[in-house]
Amino acid sequence: MHTSPKTRISTGVKGLDELIEGGLIPGRVYLVTGPPGSGKTTLALQFLLEGAKHGEKGLYVSLIQKPEEVIKDMAKYDPSIFAYVKAWKIMLYDLGPILWRETSKVPTWGSVLSRIKELSETEKIDRLVIDPVTAIEFSVSNPAEKRAELARFIRGLEDLGTTAYLVAEMTDMDRYTEEHYLTSGVIMMHYFMHNNKMVRAIQILKMRGTKHNTDMKKIVFSDNGIIVLNKSPFEDEV
Ligand SMILES: Nc1ncnc2c1ncn2[C@@H]1O[C@H](COP(=O)(O)OP(=O)(O)OP(=O)(O)O)[C@@H](O)[C@H]1O
Ligand SMILES: [Mg+2]
Repeated sequence: MHTSPKTRISTGVKGLDELIEGGLIPGRVYLVTGPPGSGKTTLALQFLLEGAKHGEKGLYVSLIQKPEEVIKDMAKYDPSIFAYVKAWKIMLYDLGPILWRETSKVPTWGSVLSRIKELSETEKIDRLVIDPVTAIEFSVSNPAEKRAELARFIRGLEDLGTTAYLVAEMTDMDRYTEEHYLTSGVIMMHYFMHNNKMVRAIQILKMRGTKHNTDMKKIVFSDNGIIVLNKSPFEDEV
């Protein structure tokens, strides 16, 4: 049975939807993970832009980088992002100052969720990005509590009906974290050295309810952002 196009939403990344039955199942929470500079933030902003272009509301929650800088960088690929930010089609929420100010309360999964809930009270947030969630981790006093807190957090986002990308830094290539298990899908960005060259690729590690291609696919940073090519990152080798 074919899924009708309406049941899937586009990632806004050329070549990526094709790997996951035409797009993401809306209302679920996805993990975007990978090493530094692998393209996590770019992928996340393309997801928000795609929504904004179709009248959906986006929220970008930033924990480390200044959101204004992120938007400026993204504008190099698509300058229309400035207009969407100005029109509050893509809202920015900077949690950085709270996180780094020693004296003030650090954000917990619970406090981040209630703030998102507040922001979505007046208007539904269709697409949400939290970049990176790894920074919230440190505020959990008891690590054993993390699984429960994260599960509550994900349920809370699902209750809001938002489709979310949780961006996670890869702390350990060999270790799967709670985020990998609890989210509905895991998109892994690769950026590594091979034959003295840096290789960029993307891989769908998991996608619940979706027949997906799990191969590593080559990606390029085009003038319009990330594009996924339907070939292995090693294919050009002789
Ligand atoms: N206009 C561009 N053309 C080509 N490559 C670019 C361009 N702009 C950015 N890049 C590449 O994209 C990388 C940054 O991607 P991005 O910020 O999305 O990665 P990230 O995974 O979020 O990184 P971090 O872990 O530091 O947050 C840069 O390091 C650069 O190599
Ligand atoms: Mg980033």
